[in-house]
Amino acid sequence: MRIPTPLVATGTLAAVLALLPATAGAGQVSRAAMLASSCAGCHGTDGASPGAIPSIAGKSATFIERALKEFRAGTRPATVMDRHAKGYTDEEIELIAEFFASK
Ligand code: HEC
Repeated sequence: MRIPTPLVATGTLAAVLALLPATAGAGQVSRAAMLASSCAGCHGTDGASPGAIPSIAGKSATFIERALKEFRAGTRPATVMDRHAKGYTDEEIELIAEFFASK
């Protein structure tokens, strides 16, 4: 049987809308994970660095938040973090800090 396309589209949209409230919390978590993934290239997976770059996994959220804000302001000595930190808002820095503190 051939189902008319508009009916399929409506069904899909309804399914997506039905899922939205349930995933709102998870969306916040994955946003933090997504932001934090840009740090993994240097600081290691989940912030556990295998090399010379300092590990940030498990450091306190307060420490990470303060470090990132100081890097961004240019008041903390840095080679790359000053430039990297400039891309984030206060809210994003807080999400990132909580993410690594939980590792
Ligand atoms: C290009 C590599 C690179 C990337 C990407 C990067 N970092 Fe860094 N990070 C460094 C280096 C190198 C240092 C040491 C300070 C410096 O030289 O800039 C550092 C230092 C830090 C420190 C201070 C650690 C300490 O013990 O003093 C924190 C916190 C930090 N980074 C967090 C982050 C977060 C969060 C991200 C992602 C948003 C990130 N970094 C992305 C390379 C990187």
